[in-house]
Amino acid sequence: MLAGQGNLKSQLERAFAARTTLSEVDRRFATQLAFGTARMALRLLPLLDSALKHPLKPRDQDLRALMLGTLYQIHWLGAAAPLCVNGAVDATRTLNKPWASKLVNAVLRKFPANLLAESLAKQSPAEQSGLPPWWYAAWAKAWGPDLETLIEASNSEPPLTLRVDGDRDTLLKTFQDAGISATAGALSAQAIYLPEGGSPASLPGFSTGAFTVQDEGAQLITELLEPAPGQHVLDACAAPGGKASALLAACPDLSLTAIDPVPHRVARLKDTLARTAGSAALGQSKVAVYCADARLAGPWQENAPFDRILVDAPCSGSGILRRQPDIRLLRTPEELAKLCALQLALLKALFPLLRPGGRLVYCTCSVMPEEGEGVVTAFLRSEPTARARPLPERFGLLRGPGRQRLPTAAGPDGFFYAALEKEGAA
Ligand SMILES: C[S@@+](CC[C@H](N)C(=O)[O-])C[C@H]1O[C@@H](n2cnc3c(N)ncnc32)[C@H](O)[C@@H]1O
Repeated sequence: MLAGQGNLKSQLERAFAARTTLSEVDRRFATQLAFGTARMALRLLPLLDSALKHPLKPRDQDLRALMLGTLYQIHWLGAAAPLCVNGAVDATRTLNKPWASKLVNAVLRKFPANLLAESLAKQSPAEQSGLPPWWYAAWAKAWGPDLETLIEASNSEPPLTLRVDGDRDTLLKTFQDAGISATAGALSAQAIYLPEGGSPASLPGFSTGAFTVQDEGAQLITELLEPAPGQHVLDACAAPGGKASALLAACPDLSLTAIDPVPHRVARLKDTLARTAGSAALGQSKVAVYCADARLAGPWQENAPFDRILVDAPCSGSGILRRQPDIRLLRTPEELAKLCALQLALLKALFPLLRPGGRLVYCTCSVMPEEGEGVVTAFLRSEPTARARPLPERFGLLRGPGRQRLPTAAGPDGFFYAALEKEGAA
């Protein structure tokens, strides 16, 4: 991640795949350590860098990550500093860099736990957020009074949230009987929260498909689309298929077209849909999956006009920062501007495929106003036949033509929602 090798989740997956003997406990600890370090990296980096006489070479970013992880363990996990430092020194040999053992030892010994705590406490609120300055400034401007809770939620460990497609009370009772603490979500009638987290595969009901892991904010999309049997629905940014599978579970008689332009993501989309709908339903061609760019015409448009279109647009992911803490190190303002241009282009290309009286739902797991109200307002200015449908308060704060949910520590992720209807008879 620090060395620009892609996102943390996929790097961890690769590392675990190469170490099949690693126990579940060790995997969980490694994940906690890696994610926690990414969360706090921007707080620790200035301290660490000021303790280095010379900056580390690009090829030695692994040493930087090792030292950051050690400081994270000392301050946030309360681990004994001498033990952690010895562990880091040993790890220089595992990294095949025994020459660095003295350096790592000397740098880390400059941070006894109390001094580290003092230095961190002296940081300004912007530094304590652990966000890049441009990101902090954008949130401070947009969410002033809610800024503190937003940052706290974004830096917390996310809850495990399930979507139950059967009877929620029955599954809650099953969990209760098994001594698993679980509560019903307040926004979606299908949501269950497991505050203690854990592996979904170890929960009762996993093998029978009684639930799917899905954030409560994401679950609300089905309700916004209000799918009805026989409708032609387009999921225009569909991979890996979470929302498409929820739609099919709610209304199996849909004719669903699901597209995404990234081949390996389309493979995951097909897997998800096959698991949800059963391979027989996929074979019956009620569900058609294409690897395609929604801005470009192609065979995927065969079922147009659509009664419903879902644009779950590619976005900054700022509403799910707690699930992908490393995105703070990867995103840039320039990239955000490009994403907004792509989101607007998707709306402009897709709205003509909606039948009169039909509904297009636009959503992003973003808390950047330009990706939500900014894009939809610009689109409405350019499209006289589009009207924003008022959304219930449950969908969050009223923001221009849509609503914005900010993430909450024990609740849903951050999402922007808008439902656009096309003038004309159904
Ligand atoms: C937020 S994700 C969608 C998540 C998905 N709806 C779900 O619930 O699992 C956004 C998706 O948009 C896709 N995407 C990016 N550019 C696109 C484009 N030009 N046309 C269609 N999809 C695009 C990305 O590959 C990514 O899979």
